[in-house]
Amino acid sequence: MATNRTFTMIKPDAVENGHIGGILNMITEAGFKIVSLKLTQLTVADAQKFYSVHSERPFFGELVEFMTRGPIVAAILEKDNAVEAFRTLIGATNPADAAEGTIRKKYAKSIGENAVHGSDSDENAAIESAFHFAGREQF
Ligand code: CMP
Repeated sequence: MATNRTFTMIKPDAVENGHIGGILNMITEAGFKIVSLKLTQLTVADAQKFYSVHSERPFFGELVEFMTRGPIVAAILEKDNAVEAFRTLIGATNPADAAEGTIRKKYAKSIGENAVHGSDSDENAAIESAFHFAGREQF
């Protein structure tokens, strides 16, 4: 079932480089409504849990270290067919493969430090949203 919400994080690389405003602007210009938003920082335990599906991957340690090194922006976004529409907006995981006009084409540096996260399914969007936001923070 396609739902109209997805979850995103603006990752530490993009926050460090001052791109929160630019990325949120691309998101809202693309027609997404922000229904939850916060600046926060993941602990190592948070990042290990959030990315547990990748725990056996060779890059897992690097991923946890990167995602915990500074603040992130977490948000829930609303739009028709949100998960797929947002993955189109952010572009390929590896910015070298990201299409023109995507967030990763503009702001990401590498496959590891790729500026933004977007949920890959409706089920994960719901899990990831609940990981970061209480019900009263979801508008
Ligand atoms: P994200 O969409 O947040 O989901 C998993 C993350 O793992 C991905 O973005 C990248 O940041 C990271 N990742 C995926 N592949 C690699 C890789 N080959 N090397 C380092 N990090 C990776």
